[in-house]
Amino acid sequence: MQAIIPCDIAYIIKNKEHTVVLSGAGISAESGVPTFRGTDGLWSKYRPEELACEQAFLADPELVWSWYQYRRDVIKSVKPHAGHLALASIESLSPQFTLITQNVDGLHVRAGSRRVLELHGNIMVNKCHSCGEETRDEEFRFAGEIPKCRCGGMLRPGVVWFGESLPVDVLEQAITAAGSCDLFISVGTSSIVYPAASLLEIAHEKGAVILEINPETTPHTRLADYHLSGSAGQILPVLADAYKSLHSQTAGD
Ligand code: OAD
Repeated sequence: MQAIIPCDIAYIIKNKEHTVVLSGAGISAESGVPTFRGTDGLWSKYRPEELACEQAFLADPELVWSWYQYRRDVIKSVKPHAGHLALASIESLSPQFTLITQNVDGLHVRAGSRRVLELHGNIMVNKCHSCGEETRDEEFRFAGEIPKCRCGGMLRPGVVWFGESLPVDVLEQAITAAGSCDLFISVGTSSIVYPAASLLEIAHEKGAVILEINPETTPHTRLADYHLSGSAGQILPVLADAYKSLHSQTAGD
């Protein structure tokens, strides 16, 4: 792992054919969505086994829905920031680009990113606990009554809970992208939740250049070719500027 200075960025991104970004809760932190870990993280205040697993839902669906309604309210009240917008801009300047996110807040799509793989689902989706049918419903508000599917089953938030598998098609696309990219950017993730964390390992094994953006080090920092220590909102716009100037140079060639 090397320290990086801004002029290195152009060198890192030059001639890259396929950029993959894996984002985590850290990128949404600057929009005002709490992360999961760390001193102010959700898991320091709440117990995942009481709120984010199937057993918890079956034991107390009202409690689980109340918590997700609180998170939906937070997410609806915030906006994408400069880091999210920078990723949308990088996508538009890249020959091939895949954004894989562990975030369920939909902020990447709201920022204009188009090829987004939501590994852990989306908090605005309701999913039937019985038949599995999913419906995106931004207007739904939990007000004490458990919503029902047309099949009669209980609706639950359409996110991946602890102990559950990731959506197979989304995970397959993510693995394919990680295994075929030449630049892999990990931003705002603690890199400890699998299988999401394995994507960086796949990219590393296949020889992609690995760039990590995080104010802290993670278990994957040792696999990174470059670690940019700082916030997504500060660093990603610098990266987007480098893509823009490289693009305008190439266009002028
Ligand atoms: P975490 O909360 O585990 O980690 C957030 C990471 O973001 C940490 O490494 C922070 O250092 C970093 N960070 C904080 N502020 C940042 C900033 N402004 N810019 C860049 N980085 C910053 O979040 P995830 O890694 O996303 O799963 O957590 C993975 C999964 O664990 C989540 O998707 C969720 C959770 O349990 C499910 O809900 C299934």
